[in-house]
Amino acid sequence: MAGQIIVEEKRHAGLIAKKVQGSLLDLQDFLKIYKQMGIKPVKGRPVNLLEVGCGRGIHSVNFAQMGFTVTGIDLSRSAIKQAKARAVADQVKINFIVRDATRTGLAGASFDLIVAIDFLHHFYYSSLQRPLDEIKRLLKKNGTLILFEPNNLHPYTFLSFCLPHFLQQNHFLSKIKYFGQVVTVNERALNPFNLLKSLQPDFQLVALKFVPYTNFLASRSPLGWPMLKCLRQAADRVGAVFPPPYRHDHFLMRLKKIG
Ligand SMILES: C[S@@+](CC[C@H](N)C(=O)[O-])C[C@H]1O[C@@H](n2cnc3c(N)ncnc32)[C@H](O)[C@@H]1O
Repeated sequence: MAGQIIVEEKRHAGLIAKKVQGSLLDLQDFLKIYKQMGIKPVKGRPVNLLEVGCGRGIHSVNFAQMGFTVTGIDLSRSAIKQAKARAVADQVKINFIVRDATRTGLAGASFDLIVAIDFLHHFYYSSLQRPLDEIKRLLKKNGTLILFEPNNLHPYTFLSFCLPHFLQQNHFLSKIKYFGQVVTVNERALNPFNLLKSLQPDFQLVALKFVPYTNFLASRSPLGWPMLKCLRQAADRVGAVFPPPYRHDHFLMRLKKIG
């Protein structure tokens, strides 16, 4: 990852950390999402879970509370600081470390389960192979990879990432704040089918689901996002007639490492 992009990612995570102090969704919402992801600890056996791009550690803390042995990595020092404070407050032991997910320095084949939530879309397709290769190195054979990312087949999600990206590229227009969204220049929604191609043949697809997520977020967000909410509701009504890949703003992929 180019140095400039790393600086940009750190700035972005710092902004998010400042902007949203608490969690946008409550635990029940997350538990529903984890259930859909098929994340559950194995009784009687410790499961080493790595969350890449863990941000402020919301999910990592939940995973630790569910019984996983958790490591959380993020590029942003401020996000990891918040994650550590969250773990202390919630009395869970988690190995939170500041690392670039493209070269973590962690031992190979050391995790049973790797989870990336809203993380991979921070990479252009041209550099996406780097975190994927590192994930592959860190995961044990037959280990599970779970990805949860914004779906670029959903027209609103496609636009909501492309538009700020375009605005930020332009020096003058970059001053416009897009419905309070904070995005990095390299952030884009992902096409699940292209992502799958980048993962094969080392990973085998176990499940691919399209799930609503941002509309949960928009309806519960303390930030309000009234404009976002209206636009989303309109997009969801129109989108309801299309097949699932085009209907939902996030996709959820569960894969098994075979290579
Ligand atoms: C949208 S946030 C998601 C955070 C968390 N997964 C969540 O759902 O709450 C994306 C995170 O990816 C991190 N990130 C971006 N590029 C990274 C990299 N190369 N290595 C590690 N973390 C990175 C950012 O710092 C940011 O915290």
